[in-house]
Amino acid sequence: MTHVSEDGRTWLLSGPAGSYALHVTDRDELVHLHWGPRTGPADAEALAARPLPEDWPFESRLDGREEYPVEGGPRFVRPALSVRAGDGRRGTEWTFEGYETGDDGLRLRFRDGDLTVTLHYRMRGDVIERWAVLHNREPAAELLRADSATWTLPDRENWRLSQLHGRWAAESRLIRSPLTLGETVVGSRRGHTGRQHLPWVALDTDATEERGEVYGCALGWSGSWRISVAQLPDARVQITGGAGHDDSGLLMLGTGETYVTPVFAGLWSDQGFGGASRAWHAYQRAHVVPDADRDRPVLFNSWEATGFDISEERQRVLAERAAAMGVELFVVDDGWFGARTGDRAGLGDWTPNPGRFPGGLKPLADHVHRPGMGFGIWVEPEMVNPDSDLYRAHPDWVQFQPGRRRTEFRNQLVLNLARDDVREYLWERLDALLSSAPVDYVKWDFSRCFTDAGWPDDPYPQRLWTDHVRGLYALLDRLRAAHPGVAFESCSGGGGRIDLGILSRTDQVWTSDNTDPLDRLAIQHGFSQLHPARVMAAWVTDSPNVMLNGRVSSLRFRFVGAMAGVLGVGGDLARWTQEERAEAREWVALYKEIRSVVQRGDLYRLRPPEGGLSAVQYVLGDETVVLACLQAQHFGEPVPALRLRGLDPGATYKCRDTGEVHRGAVLLHHGLGTGLRGDPDAAVFRLRRLRSTD
Ligand code: DGJ
Repeated sequence: MTHVSEDGRTWLLSGPAGSYALHVTDRDELVHLHWGPRTGPADAEALAARPLPEDWPFESRLDGREEYPVEGGPRFVRPALSVRAGDGRRGTEWTFEGYETGDDGLRLRFRDGDLTVTLHYRMRGDVIERWAVLHNREPAAELLRADSATWTLPDRENWRLSQLHGRWAAESRLIRSPLTLGETVVGSRRGHTGRQHLPWVALDTDATEERGEVYGCALGWSGSWRISVAQLPDARVQITGGAGHDDSGLLMLGTGETYVTPVFAGLWSDQGFGGASRAWHAYQRAHVVPDADRDRPVLFNSWEATGFDISEERQRVLAERAAAMGVELFVVDDGWFGARTGDRAGLGDWTPNPGRFPGGLKPLADHVHRPGMGFGIWVEPEMVNPDSDLYRAHPDWVQFQPGRRRTEFRNQLVLNLARDDVREYLWERLDALLSSAPVDYVKWDFSRCFTDAGWPDDPYPQRLWTDHVRGLYALLDRLRAAHPGVAFESCSGGGGRIDLGILSRTDQVWTSDNTDPLDRLAIQHGFSQLHPARVMAAWVTDSPNVMLNGRVSSLRFRFVGAMAGVLGVGGDLARWTQEERAEAREWVALYKEIRSVVQRGDLYRLRPPEGGLSAVQYVLGDETVVLACLQAQHFGEPVPALRLRGLDPGATYKCRDTGEVHRGAVLLHHGLGTGLRGDPDAAVFRLRRLRSTD
């Protein structure tokens, strides 16, 4: 809902719990008024009537107050918009042209000569989506930087910054630290979202898991990006974010051209970190993730079982074992195509390896479909091995700088998806592939970053950074439209491409190559700050863990941890004993019972991954699921009961696992005994609220 003041210069947007207000001054400065609890039009107008500080030579009257600081004039903050006009002039001096409100929110239009800047605001529950649209008449102007939005926090003391940082096999680690004066910049200059930071920050002063105000911002962009959290000299805090890591140029806006920034979404919550996460999850399920009300199936993935040593016969054996275990989707990972018998060759040649799949993929797909499983394949379309037919035919299709070495990582180069011919080739190959065999699922990988991001033939090669990502989005959108039954997973050498942009066109993401059940708890804890369980793929793999650390763990511990997301199995089932497979079958059956609660329910993080006992709880309607993992127990230290959340204190709940009936108030205030002992140990508790008819 948007309220507009009578003079058409103050706007108030409201969601169920929160409001956001802004105002254009009589000098056409767009200033921020309010972001926080729900408030009324009179409050917004009272805030608009407060005078801005006077101009003086030492500080800016605008800094820390503007909704979208442009370059130029009396400003010293990092500009959200930096333009070099066709005549060489830098900076922007705009006039306010007007606004529109409608179902899709609020649009404010500003003009500076031939450039129109339209700022968009759209409420999605209490999440505000913001983006900017730049339109140029003529002549061509260079967009050096065009952020999506700048968010302004209220004046408070002692801000604390939460971020999700990481590296390969240790993604999404949550850290919290005091915000210092100056700028804290997180981002990626790698061409993809990156594992080093997820594009999200949260700020609070004194929040706990279930109490206190939290401000969060998340960017929907899968290329290089930057979010800068600036604490200005007067301690005001602003968060500016958008595509691209630096200010060296996004693209040329030719005559009549338009650039639309990605969405930068913001959320205010007074329900602590847990409440903020639940609001983010609800937003993504309702407005971002496709078909989010459809539960994701249990999958098997062959990567850890076979590596590159793929044969149709071996995959058939795995598929039979997976089907017997109750798996619903069988995914053949890397190694099924071209000359891809290791990581040195074949990337780019998307036809089945004739030695490995003499009849193509269809016979295996049919075999997998017979017991009712879906069939999935791995691809990495944006890449090429130099030792491939594609590269031999088109060495100029990769990103490269003329006269410079082409940097290889994992023996591969990055294709330039900004090029029409490259996208067209990939479309034809992938469309043919999806038409050649009944494929239900595509795991789309992107295993290395940009390094030599050059495009020698293009007059403005810099645009490759954004246009590659737009090319990827266009390709995914086209494939999804042409093959509506196919689901897509975003993978990037583990969790390197997880953001709201890719999530709007994929069905789930690969969280991390780290499948060690203990390490996973911390990764999943971080992931859950922003993203819902519905998109978080989690596999049970072998013990000892072959990929990483050799850790030995029970099937019980591995399954309970992986059930916190979209369950998958990734072990070498050919080597699992009959007893292990029988036990796994029971866990898979249990997961199917609880998955709608896990994937669609409200998440409560009962205990963090640090320390002995960690636990998460999901609530959907009358159903509650608790997943508890005891990592370590010291002798003499009791395992604490789990104080549940989100329950009705006046109701009673029956635990289907113990048969006990509990009072809601007791579960909330005294907790649920887990009976866990020794380490590591884990358990699932299913509670149902009893109705008078039960
Ligand atoms: C990286 C992914 O994260 C793995 O799951 C696997 O698909 C490999 N690539 C295959 O090369």
